Amino acid sequence: MGKGQDLYKLAKTLIPGGVQLLSKRPEQFLPDQWPAYYQKAKGCEVWDLDGKKYIDMSFMGIGACTLGYADDDVNTAVQKAIADGNMCTLNAPEEVELAELMIELHPWANMVRYARGGGDAMTVAVRIARAATKKDIILFSGYHGWHDWYLSANLGENNALDGQLLPGLKPAGVARGMKGTSYPFFYNNKTEFLELIKKHGANVGGVVIEAVRNVEPNEGFFDLLTKETKRLGVPLIVDEVSSGFRMNCGGAHMILGLQPDIAVFAKGVSNGFPMGIIIGKKEFMDAAQDSFISSTYWTERIGPVAAIASIKKMRQFNVQKHMMECGKKIQEGWAKLADKHGLNIHVGSIYPLSHFDFNETPLVLKTLFTQEMLAKGFLATNSYYSCFAHKQEHIDAYLTAVDQVFELISIATKEKNPEKYLKGPLCHSGFKRLN
Ligand SMILES: Cc1ncc(COP(=O)(O)O)c(C=O)c1O
Repeated sequence: MGKGQDLYKLAKTLIPGGVQLLSKRPEQFLPDQWPAYYQKAKGCEVWDLDGKKYIDMSFMGIGACTLGYADDDVNTAVQKAIADGNMCTLNAPEEVELAELMIELHPWANMVRYARGGGDAMTVAVRIARAATKKDIILFSGYHGWHDWYLSANLGENNALDGQLLPGLKPAGVARGMKGTSYPFFYNNKTEFLELIKKHGANVGGVVIEAVRNVEPNEGFFDLLTKETKRLGVPLIVDEVSSGFRMNCGGAHMILGLQPDIAVFAKGVSNGFPMGIIIGKKEFMDAAQDSFISSTYWTERIGPVAAIASIKKMRQFNVQKHMMECGKKIQEGWAKLADKHGLNIHVGSIYPLSHFDFNETPLVLKTLFTQEMLAKGFLATNSYYSCFAHKQEHIDAYLTAVDQVFELISIATKEKNPEKYLKGPLCHSGFKRLN
């Protein structure tokens, strides 16, 4: 245990849950051993508080850094914004430049609003939908953040959100009066969606989905969503917070054949600087004027400046093609190496957000994988988020290490007691109280 774990112990006495994002909890990776904090991050390299260097082949800032950490071009643009004044009584002109750029990339949209976080931006979209339709119920699929409109789905049925990415999300603190205002359905499940429409259709104010995550859309799924939302006159909202700017320069809906009314971007659009973007059709977006949607720091300058610089660089270097290729190499590498060592794994997800699962004793083997990869100098888990800073040399080094770690896991599995190789507790698999 290094300085990072010491600091994390202190953090847990001062900050409930220790950190601000569940996915950054050290317990999600390797309890008691994960370095927890960084002093510097550049490209795909990370230095912990003890000065130890790692290659990040895990989440790259939980999906925020599509170009890589501390990208020189984005940083230069941001440094100019800081020097010229990040905040002012007047507005930042880059808000308009970014709006034009987003509409150029998504010609079906003609209006834009901003927030900073992904969950915030999604909440703006849902507010606009309810304001425009004057109806309360939101049908959704996937993960959309921590806000009340989303968590209220768990007021009805305690585990309604399980299976929508993060299990165990608790709605404590969400007003019980919100029960029955949002209902989940599973991606690609047309029957489930139609049942919800049958039951709640008259009161549905919007339908929310992630463009894509673990599986590709089935034939006819998007068409059904479009048909039903059009029939009801309510917006189809696509959440591109994780899927946007990964497979193509813009929303994944553009290449998957989904025609939304509103699309929401955050995270990967501004390379580590806070930015949330809501784009949509005027007929719905205009309702943003009928509701009070307003926040001081949604007007600061760094967000739009970072987004413009990131998008321009992604466009110039065809970054998404690189990210797709990296993910493909990693997925193929996992599958080939698992085969070589006789391991039973499932590999999936879109290439830039690649993922594998051990089919037997998954948590034990995942913990062992992270533990052994860390010892070899990699931040690694059973997910790999690609970025522009990942070069062939990183992929080669990573797969060489995976080869060795899979060999050990294969031995441990054959001995039927893989726990004995663990130097600490098992990693966590979902949301829970820490102490
Ligand atoms: C699809 C999707 N929507 C919304 C969010 C929430 O974004 P944020 O964590 O920036 O609030 C996330 C975060 O992972 C996400 O993946």
